[in-house]
Formats: sequence, C-alpha cells, structure tokens
Amino acid sequence: MEIVVSGIRSTGNLHLGNYFGAIRNFVKMQHENHCYFFIADYHSLTTHPTPTDLHDSVKTVLVDFIACGLDPDKATLYIQSDVPEVAELYLLLNMNAYLGELERCTSFKEKIRTQSNNVNAGLLTYPTLMAADIIIHKAHKVPVGKDQEQHLEMTRTFASRFNRIYGVDYFPEPVAYNFGEDLVKIPGLDGSTKMSKSENENSAICLADSPEAILKKVMKAVTDAGPTEPNQPKPQPIENIFQLMHAFSTTDTYNHFSNLYDRCEIRYGDMKKQLAEDIIAYTTPFREKMEALNQDDAYLGKVARMGAEKARESAAKTIREVREIIGFKRM
Ligand code: TRP
Repeated sequence: MEIVVSGIRSTGNLHLGNYFGAIRNFVKMQHENHCYFFIADYHSLTTHPTPTDLHDSVKTVLVDFIACGLDPDKATLYIQSDVPEVAELYLLLNMNAYLGELERCTSFKEKIRTQSNNVNAGLLTYPTLMAADIIIHKAHKVPVGKDQEQHLEMTRTFASRFNRIYGVDYFPEPVAYNFGEDLVKIPGLDGSTKMSKSENENSAICLADSPEAILKKVMKAVTDAGPTEPNQPKPQPIENIFQLMHAFSTTDTYNHFSNLYDRCEIRYGDMKKQLAEDIIAYTTPFREKMEALNQDDAYLGKVARMGAEKARESAAKTIREVREIIGFKRM
C-alpha cells in the first residue's frame, strides 16, 4: 500500500469551490492507500493568529474533514502540532536547506511582495516544514493543487540530499498526486470562472449556509437579458450557471434548461430556483453533519487523540532512525 500524506491550513468557511474538492478526493484515496491527513497549524503561525483564532480554525478544519467523509478509522487524521517529531525533523532538515534555494521559492517571493511587514523565518523555511510533514511518514504520494508543486519539488530535493549526505537510501522521493481532471470546476455566482469568497461574499456557497442563504445567493447570481437568437454560445456568467447545474443537478434537468436556452425560451428565475433546490439537497447532509460535530467536542477530541497517537507512532519511528543515521547515538 502506498503512503499518502497531505495537509490543509485553516480554510475559513468551507465553500464548494475551495478545499472541498480536495477533501472529497482525500475521501476517495483513504480506501486504497495508507493515508495521513493533517491540519497544518504550525504553518498557520506564519500569519500570527490569536490563540482563539488558531484553535477555532483547527476545529473548523477537523469538522470539515469528518463532515466531508474522511473516516478516522481508515485514514490517520491529526493536528500537526500534536506531533512534535515534525518540528524536530524540520530543525534537522533546515541544517541542509540553503538560503538561496529558500529565497528563490515562488511562494516566499510572493509573501515578500504582499506582506513586506511580516517576512519572518517561518515563511522562509515554510518548504522545509512542509518537507518534514511529508517525509516524516516516508510518503510516496502527496495530493496537492498545482500551486504546491514547487514545494513538492523542494521536498524531493531535501529528501534526496539527506540520502546523499548520509549515504543511505532512507527517504523515498514523494510525487505530487494531482487531481487534475478529477476536480470538477466550480465557477462563482458573480460571473467569475472560479468560486471564491475573497472578491465577493455572494460568489461562494458555503457548506454551512442555510437553505435560505443558498436560495438568496443563487437567485442573485449574475445573468443577462437572455439569448436573442437560437443556439448561441453562452456568455461566461450564463455558462457558469450551467456548469453549476452540471455539477449539482441531474442530467435531465441540465438538458431541459439547455434546450430552453437554445430555443431562446429560458427563464433564468426558474433555472436558478431549480439550481438552488439541487444545491440545497446536495449540501444539507454536510451542513447537518457539521452542526452535529460542532456540538460534539468530546468526539472531536477523541478523533484528534486517536490520530495523534497513530501519527506519532509513524513519526517517532522515523525520528529514531534519522537520529541514528545522523550520529545522535546513545552515550
Ligand atoms: N502548503 C499547503 C497549502 O498551503 C499545506 C501543507 C502544509 C501541506 N504541509 C503540507 C500540503 C504537506 C501537503 C503536504 O495548501
């Protein structure tokens, strides 16, 4: 069985467009692989959250994980900071990570540009911490988005450098597992091609949104005056509504409205009402699960403790062996 590791930083309110697709793919992977999925709360410290915000965001991700279908009995679900072995490996990897390569990292250069008032060492060494997360379990595959590929490349560099320096064949070189085509593209309600909350609150549908909120957002989605000639191509905002329908409604429903569009008989109000209904039917079980989990700190605590125990077992073994290889031997 292959070992899979991936982590997610605090995500805020989970909406249909962001990490939801990634977590749903984790759910598929948990059956055929030995999976470790964690909440990257050490990484979160680069942005200096308050203790309350940090804790709340960790809880939110844990709830999202479970509500979306990750099974704590199948995959190891844990909180990064519960596994201090990760911090030790991070320290060790930093000794052989060079300033130049860390400074050249695109995500670091981006941070210098966008938050020049907080360029801390944690940001510089973000790639070594991420490498530690991954190789602490000797992972083979890392499901991540395209934006993380350079970090994965650096992880392979750090892993193979360790092997070379110590003349061992210890760490595997992990590869990115890119969902690519598997990820259904979820466009925004505001006419943009990607659902996101940063630009416009009403562009994104959150899994925790009430049915009323979803109906309101969908009814406000950007449309136009409608086609004036048959069989016209659809402008982006209209294409978006159809894409959402493709993702959340039945094929019959989609075809019904597509035919109306082609005949210039479409009424967007009707279409949006149907779409809202179908999205509500889809999100309701998730929302209910999230509400229940949010009330159940005892269960969340149990999951976190169980995950920490399993993750530490694997991490402690690696650290024991790495210490031995490096030459930290018992006197
Ligand atoms: N850097 C990742 C992100 O921002 C989060 C992350 C931290 C991660 N450590 C990881 C992802 C290890 C995969 C493996 O999305």
